[in-house]
Amino acid sequence: MFVLGIESSCDETAAAVVKDGQEILSNIILSQTDLHKNYGGVFPELACRRHLDFMLPVIQEALDVAGVEPDLIAVTQGPGLIGALIMGINAGGGLSMGWDIPLVGVNHVDAHVYAASMGEEIEYPALGIVVSGGHTAMMLMQSPLEYEILGKTVDDAIGESFDKVARMLDLPYPGGPEVEKLAKNGDPKQFDFKPCRVKGRPMDFSFSGLKTKALYAIKGPGGHPDGPNIISEAQKKDVAAAFQLAAIESIVYKGIEAAVNHGCRHLLLGGGVSNNALLRELFVSQAPPTLSLHFPKKGLCLDNAAMIAGLGYHVYQNEGAHEIGLAPLPKTMI
Ligand code: KG4
Ligand code: ZN
Repeated sequence: MFVLGIESSCDETAAAVVKDGQEILSNIILSQTDLHKNYGGVFPELACRRHLDFMLPVIQEALDVAGVEPDLIAVTQGPGLIGALIMGINAGGGLSMGWDIPLVGVNHVDAHVYAASMGEEIEYPALGIVVSGGHTAMMLMQSPLEYEILGKTVDDAIGESFDKVARMLDLPYPGGPEVEKLAKNGDPKQFDFKPCRVKGRPMDFSFSGLKTKALYAIKGPGGHPDGPNIISEAQKKDVAAAFQLAAIESIVYKGIEAAVNHGCRHLLLGGGVSNNALLRELFVSQAPPTLSLHFPKKGLCLDNAAMIAGLGYHVYQNEGAHEIGLAPLPKTMI
């Protein structure tokens, strides 16, 4: 079954064709990063307009590269920016009607985790971890669509905290890769940042305390995120390194502990922060040899439509077609 995936939940307009949930025939991503850079984050109205302009050309390119006719359309139904979601849902609904092929709505967060399993053999139960700009959660998975949430962030998502700390360090949006670059030459031991704990909820995450520690280190105690810096350029590197290590350690240690405690032999990692080299290195060095680690391949970490098409195949196998007039679900977690 050839599935056309459409993703437009935030600032990427993306379309892809995937065969039987696994084999990626095309994966076209039009990033809007340059458009939003001046605003220090995504400007929703502009994102919608850009989706409107590029949705059909991006879909056309995905179909041309794949060279096949789709049997099913899978669109991101949520979570995301409501206007941006509507663009993809309407495009998918219109094409589904025009071509007389079924449509399914897909959860973007589930799809991030699914991305790590594409082209791989996964044994369930598996531990899924999503580390993105909007979500941070750990789930015990019985299949790509059945799982129980073991822990999640009680405040900011990890990617969001990377973006906020980047801004404090005068780095452009999106901040995660910039913090990673700056941290390369920094010494994390120069600042005492610890992985965050949530009282009485050992498997949950918290990043706001860590973000405040970084704020006070950069701007001084009680400082404002846009206020003047009290540290040198060299110390900025140390703050970036200390923040990155603390944020990532909390994911690595809890993730491995949860996988081992629940008898999982496979761990899947998804979302933009799974691009981070230190995160990958720490997982590889800390995981027991019995735990097989799966990271998304190139083009599957950040927002993309191949993961939507891939998971859409399973949604269709389980639930059949959805209504054409899908309601966007901007706030749905999973
Ligand atoms: O999954 P994604 O593309 O979008 C959401 O669904 O949220 O994730 C984007 C997030 C941003 O916060 C970005 O700063 C972060 O992923 N990110 C990184 C890295 N690359 C992207 N964070 C840390 N290190 C990276 N290399
Ligand atoms: Zn995403």
